[in-house]
Amino acid sequence: MIIAIDGPAASGKGTLARRLAAHYRFHHLDTGVIYRAVARALLEAGADLNDEDRAAAAAEDLDPAAFDDPALKSQRVGDAASVVSALPRVRAALLQFQRRFAAQPPGAVLDGRDIGTVICPEADVKIFVVADAEVRARRRTLEALERGEAANEAEVLADILRRDARDSDRATAPLKRAEDAHLLDNSHLDIEGGVRAAIAIVEAVRAGRSGV
Ligand code: DC
Repeated sequence: MIIAIDGPAASGKGTLARRLAAHYRFHHLDTGVIYRAVARALLEAGADLNDEDRAAAAAEDLDPAAFDDPALKSQRVGDAASVVSALPRVRAALLQFQRRFAAQPPGAVLDGRDIGTVICPEADVKIFVVADAEVRARRRTLEALERGEAANEAEVLADILRRDARDSDRATAPLKRAEDAHLLDNSHLDIEGGVRAAIAIVEAVRAGRSGV
């Protein structure tokens, strides 16, 4: 079984995906981490983020063992990831890795921007998570402060709006809701409320009541 979770930056999709995977004992892949790893490789090399040859080479060279590195979580790397992820050859280089991950038994939950539209269009369940930009900015700011990073909420909000626009307006695999994705508005839900709503969607689909 494949569960595809897409949504904009800081919508809470990562937490939901992790919790759904734990609930169903499925594998979980935060696909944003892959683009972040490519971005970090370029930043460390001092390379131009729009250098498609270098970015595609970094994507082909990725080591999944490094995906847990907390340095990938920073706002700077996230912003750079939004740039490199718009490069078609980067996305092409990462496609098969994600599809192979998704095919693992007994099931997988993948979260990102294009899981339901491009990576796993045949996913059994698709959830598109949204939340108000102000709510997302507040959450991201608190997370950054908890990691000991300096964070200004107004700047985080501006960054989120810029990322939303870049991720949604790009030509290749833009952020968009798949036609058959269930919408989950996470603006006014706490984590447990969001998890319950996501499980309810999965269970409704499993029970064959996908219109619910
Ligand atoms: O979800 P995140 O903030 O970790 O993602 C970082 C960037 O990576 C995001 O701004 C766009 C890109 N990304 C993507 O293009 N496709 C995905 N499936 C996941 C992330």
